[in-house]
Amino acid sequence: MTSQQQKTESSKAPPPPPRAVTTRSFVAMKAKGERIAVLTAYDFLMAGLIDEAGIDCVLVGDSLGQVFAGENSTLPVTLEQMIYHTRAVRRAVKRALLVIDMPFLTYQVTPEEAIRNCGRAIQETGAQAVKLEGGNPDMGRTIRRVVDAGIPVMGHLGLTPQSVHAIGGYRVVGRESSERDALMTAAQRLVDAGCFSMVLEMVPQKVAGEISREIPVPTIGIGAGPECDGQVLVLPDMLGLNEGFEPGFLKRYARLAAAVREAVADYSREVKEGRYPGPEHSYD
Ligand code: KIV
Repeated sequence: MTSQQQKTESSKAPPPPPRAVTTRSFVAMKAKGERIAVLTAYDFLMAGLIDEAGIDCVLVGDSLGQVFAGENSTLPVTLEQMIYHTRAVRRAVKRALLVIDMPFLTYQVTPEEAIRNCGRAIQETGAQAVKLEGGNPDMGRTIRRVVDAGIPVMGHLGLTPQSVHAIGGYRVVGRESSERDALMTAAQRLVDAGCFSMVLEMVPQKVAGEISREIPVPTIGIGAGPECDGQVLVLPDMLGLNEGFEPGFLKRYARLAAAVREAVADYSREVKEGRYPGPEHSYD
């Protein structure tokens, strides 16, 4: 390369930031056959990393009750906790669509409460959409009201963890024909209510495929097979930080628990042996 070429290369303006993802572009991705990659995040540093890596959507999931706070379900999570974590994530996310999960009892009691709480979640965090679980007729009406108030809603069907006790545990939903039919009806109801997308959790691959082909908005699967329009995983699970959690659908893309243990053991040993801090880590 000549020095002139080098100069031209290095004086080039940096590329413009990739276009931010919106609820509209989310739906357009399905129309174009573009698959959608979603991950959860709960804090500033991780959210920044996954946004820089090009994830399409960051969900601040109420799974934080389990993977952040060590609870055994999502039921104890509060709106205040969701707002706190989503504000931290918002500061880091520049490109991805940011969705906040609405916790248990913040939207199930009355449509008015749902509008107020979803509005508060959007207003106080800067998230672009909320996620609500369930698809019975009451939930369809509530979602319609929330959408009409100008708040985009991502639905969530199949295993809806806030109803774990009613469902009878964390299990695949939709194997029996009655459950399959109820899922198909609920998916259409969520579309009619105005959802711009929906999570399908722990749904048989065939049923998730049928729903995905039937409806115009993207389905985001977790334990629902490859025929969904996109996939979501819980970040600490896919990074291998949550070693005790090994469902069949999970693929680990890293082994961070082992890396953390090794780093901490190295640090601890070096402190005890007087090898850290060295002169390079000390001030004159
Ligand atoms: O809370 C959560 O993280 C979720 C995803 C698993 C979809 O709802």
